[in-house]
Amino acid sequence: MSNSEAESQDGVLLSIESSCDETAAAVIDRNRRVLSSVVATQTELHQDFGGVVPEIASRAHVERILPVMDKALRDADAGLDDIAAIAVTSEPGLVGSLLVGLTAAKTLSWSLDVPLVTVNHIEAHLYACQMVVERPVYPCVGLVVSGGHTHLYDCRSPTDLELIGWTIDDAAGEAFDKAARVLDLEYPGGPIIDRRAARGNAKAHKFPRPMIHDKRLRFSFSGLKTAILYEAKGNPGPRSAPPPPLTEKRIDDLCASFQAAVVDVLIAKCKLALKQTGYRTLCVGGGVACNSGLRKALDKLAQSHKVLCAPPEYCTDNAAMGAIGWELFEQGSFSPLDVDVTPGLIRVKER
Ligand code: KG4
Ligand code: ZN
Repeated sequence: MSNSEAESQDGVLLSIESSCDETAAAVIDRNRRVLSSVVATQTELHQDFGGVVPEIASRAHVERILPVMDKALRDADAGLDDIAAIAVTSEPGLVGSLLVGLTAAKTLSWSLDVPLVTVNHIEAHLYACQMVVERPVYPCVGLVVSGGHTHLYDCRSPTDLELIGWTIDDAAGEAFDKAARVLDLEYPGGPIIDRRAARGNAKAHKFPRPMIHDKRLRFSFSGLKTAILYEAKGNPGPRSAPPPPLTEKRIDDLCASFQAAVVDVLIAKCKLALKQTGYRTLCVGGGVACNSGLRKALDKLAQSHKVLCAPPEYCTDNAAMGAIGWELFEQGSFSPLDVDVTPGLIRVKER
């Protein structure tokens, strides 16, 4: 054993995540302490396309997966002999991307003869919320807001989640990315809109709050994208006046107004989910959980509820949140070597 802490804990978990466009690996001890977390982002490869190109993502994962795993072990001062189990994201995500991580994990599991546990990416995003607090946080409402997901869950335990709310069209992160494209800002749009919104006036433009009064736990963000397009570049209708020039100040105001609309809807539905479930605790994970407007609104909600947001480095995709693999390990939920990826989100129980 090369790491004395790892030794006293009797082995570490090597966690691998490659569900979308980040190649990530982390080493976590049995107490869920993250000994290392390495994330190789592919943003620069997808930037010109304004979104993730699946084929490019898979190829980049193939190039990066071994160096990233190597670095995670080195950073944790751990060797192959220290690995007690391998955790890997197997669902949901891009099929080619998931396959790269799963193949690496299976190979290592077989060659080291250690158990393989397959992790659900959504459950991992929510598990990230409890990694920095005293447990237990369950039962709670879980909101996952990322580029691919805007989902609400009734979380009874880290691995017992019931889907209770979802978007009927775009995900919140996708809406941020598309709005940024309308404003000719870079990809990914979320962080840029967040920065510019801080300088803008959120009341400058009146954007809709889609489905905010709907008593079902449903989101819809595609209309907001059209609203910002018309506001920024003009309504294509025959009698509409040309829009004012898209100055830096106008872009800031548009960003602030757009962000406020997204945040209002997210908070309203979280409140509704808390009311419907009767739970006092809300966990929020996924890339959009980095958003400062959302965090401010969640701070306000924290006056009446227990609100847990994953730390920013564990909001966007990473392998440290694969610490949930220890929960599966302790339950004996091991996966066979012929386990396959499940790209789609399986709605086991829909309410
Ligand atoms: O969780 P994540 O890294 O990947 C997925 O599983 O999708 O989330 C990426 C998404 C992108 O759409 C990005 O624009 C958004 O999270 N995002 C943000 C912020 N940081 C990242 N959205 C709003 N504000 C942010 N600060
Ligand atoms: Zn994610």
